[in-house]
Amino acid sequence: MARGELMKRLLASYGRDEEFRAVAEQIILEEEQKNNKVLARSLRKTLDNSSHRPATAPKMLAPLIHFPDAADDFVERVEPERNKHDIVLSEANVRVFLGLMREFRRGEDIRRRGLPVRSKLLFCGPPGCGKTLCAEVFAAEMGLPLFVVKIDRLISSYLGETAANVRKIFEFARKQPCALFFDEFDALARSRDDTSEHNELRRVVNSLLIFIDRLRPNGFLIAASNLDQSLDPAIWRRFDEVIWFDKPDRPMIERFVKFKFKNVEASFDPLEHAKALEGYSYAEIERVCISAIKSAIIERRKQVRENDFKRAIADETRRRSGTARLSKIS
Ligand SMILES: Nc1ncnc2c1ncn2[C@@H]1O[C@H](COP(=O)(O)OP(=O)(O)O)[C@@H](O)[C@H]1O
Ligand SMILES: [Mg+2]
Repeated sequence: MARGELMKRLLASYGRDEEFRAVAEQIILEEEQKNNKVLARSLRKTLDNSSHRPATAPKMLAPLIHFPDAADDFVERVEPERNKHDIVLSEANVRVFLGLMREFRRGEDIRRRGLPVRSKLLFCGPPGCGKTLCAEVFAAEMGLPLFVVKIDRLISSYLGETAANVRKIFEFARKQPCALFFDEFDALARSRDDTSEHNELRRVVNSLLIFIDRLRPNGFLIAASNLDQSLDPAIWRRFDEVIWFDKPDRPMIERFVKFKFKNVEASFDPLEHAKALEGYSYAEIERVCISAIKSAIIERRKQVRENDFKRAIADETRRRSGTARLSKIS
C-alpha cells in the first residue's frame, strides 16, 4: 500500500487501538519487505515496548493483534520468502490474481456501494503445482501477513474442547488484515465425508465450515486442496473464487525449464527435453532441473550436460513409479 495511504490510515485510527496496531504492523511489514531491516526492527521494538505498559497507563495501546496463545499450536505466522518472480502462473491465473488485487485495493469503495469483495479463495489441483507457493507469493504481493492454519492439529486439539479457539482465529481474521491459509484443506473435507468418523469430529468440521461461511475477512481466506471434482459441493460454494493449479502443458514446461536454467550454463538445449517431462508437476520438473545442475557442480564442471539432464529425468521417473507403488500399498 502506498505510504501516504498508510499514514492516512494510521491517523484515522487514532483512539482505536487495535486498528492502530494493525496499521503500524503493516508499516513495519512494508519496511521489512523493502529491506529496510534496521528501521523495521526499531519500529517493532518501539511498538512492542508500548504494549508492555501496565494496564492502568493512560491511553494504553491495545496488545498487538496476534493469535491467542491457545491458537499458537495450530496457527503459524510465516514470513514469505518468495515473490512473484519465483512463480510461474498460467495467463488465466495471472488475470484472476490481478483482478483480486485490484478489487481488494478498492474494497472500501466497493463495500460502500453495498457490493461484496471477493475474499475467500479455493486453490485446487494436483500436488506440486504451486498452491502453497502461490499463497505465500500472493500474501507477499498484497503486503499482508500470512498465517497458516495447521488443520490436522486444529482438528485434534479442537476435539472435546469448546469452539473458543477456533472462534478466536476467525475473530482475528475479521480484524487483522491478513491472509489466513488453510493448507491441505482436504483433511477437513475428507473428515466430513468419512461416515466412519467419530460423530464428534464431523460436528467439529461442520462448525468450522460454518465459521468459514460467516467470515468476512479483512484480507483473504485461502484454502488449498489436492482434490478436484470429488470435492464436496457444500465446500465449493463457500468460496468466492476457485483457482485451478494444473500440471504444466508443453509451453508451460518450456517456460518453467527456461526459468530454472536462467543463470545456468548448459552445453545442450534443455527445452528439447520438454516432451519427456509432460505429465510431471512443477515440483517434479524442478527436481529434475536441480538434480542436473547439481551434477555439474559436484563434478566441478562449468556446464550442465545433456546426460546430466537425461539421468535426472530417469531418476525422477524411477521415483514416480516408486511413489505410485507406495500409494497402491497404502
Ligand atoms: N507454478 C510454480 N511455479 C514455480 N515453482 C513451482 C510451481 N509449482 C510448484 N513449484 C515448486 O514446487 C514446490 C512445491 O510446490 P507447492 O507450492 O508446495 O505445491 P502444492 O501446494 O500445489 O502441492 C514449490 O515450493 C516450488 O519450488
Ligand atoms: Mg501444498
